[in-house]
Amino acid sequence: MIETTLWHPVALSHAVEQAPLAVQLLQHALVLWRDGEGRVQAFTDRCPHRGARLSLGRVHGGRIECPYHGWQFEPGGRCVHVPALPQFTPPATHCATRHGVVEAYGLVWVQIDAGNAALPAFEAEGDERLRKVHCGPYDVATSAPRIIENFLDMAHFGFVHDGWLGTRAATAIDDYRVEPTPTGLRATGCKAWQPQSNLHSTAPAQVEYTYEVTGPYTAVLTKVPEAGTTALAGWRESIALFVCPVTPESSRVWFRLAVADFESPDEKLQAFQHTIFTQDQPVLESQVPRRLPLDLRAELHTAADKASSAYRRFLRTGGITFGVC
Ligand code: FES
Ligand code: CO
Repeated sequence: MIETTLWHPVALSHAVEQAPLAVQLLQHALVLWRDGEGRVQAFTDRCPHRGARLSLGRVHGGRIECPYHGWQFEPGGRCVHVPALPQFTPPATHCATRHGVVEAYGLVWVQIDAGNAALPAFEAEGDERLRKVHCGPYDVATSAPRIIENFLDMAHFGFVHDGWLGTRAATAIDDYRVEPTPTGLRATGCKAWQPQSNLHSTAPAQVEYTYEVTGPYTAVLTKVPEAGTTALAGWRESIALFVCPVTPESSRVWFRLAVADFESPDEKLQAFQHTIFTQDQPVLESQVPRRLPLDLRAELHTAADKASSAYRRFLRTGGITFGVC
């Protein structure tokens, strides 16, 4: 499965502290922990001795210790201490299974099987004029691709987000452009009439979006400032959607907001995003099947859905099998 060689978000960086943290990714049980140097480690959450969960153990002296017989494992995965045989030097084959792990965008990313995939891009992260704030995690009872597709969909704004990102009084979708990219797709010129497009909106405005799919389960939207609006001059916002494919039909979701607003408290920015996503969540969880159908004949499509049709095409040609049907 190609998905296991890609990087996936599994936890907020600051959620990995002193105690080992159990997470699930692509149906694999993993344990995250911090070694003596403060680096995050990701192991399979199963002790190679008798199969106990390492996440029930503790981190001590830069090693993770199994809760059952106290075997201790180094950052590289190697067992270096067997308390029942204190003089015994375990051979190199006494090893926990270790996975690739990096921290980026405030999250811990794991690659289950080694490969040369790049981390999904999020350009706004490096822009110092933008402040970064997290929202989530949200545990959502649907596949990761259904969640990404919802993020690319503007035709639901007037219904699901009536009075916020859209209005029943203006539901038409103007034509927009979609082009494939090496990591997914880019949709530009996506316009929406929004009563309350962000925390600071005081009047409805026409907002133009760019959507980018940056990996099978990651996407970024950028709101392009309107030309000639002095009130909003220089105002821009980029929102990344990072989805962890937990099982084929359940996911964990984070948003990374990159905003020019350095004044509002985190909670206020998070509350706006929270309102929007909790409007989406019940509808997302109602969709059947939960796995995204890649056969274009399985559901109906219109020109307004061309970003989602392109996304399905990208998943199909990319050989993605997890979370789709
Ligand atoms: Fe882990 Fe025995 S099961 S030390
Ligand atoms: Co929505």
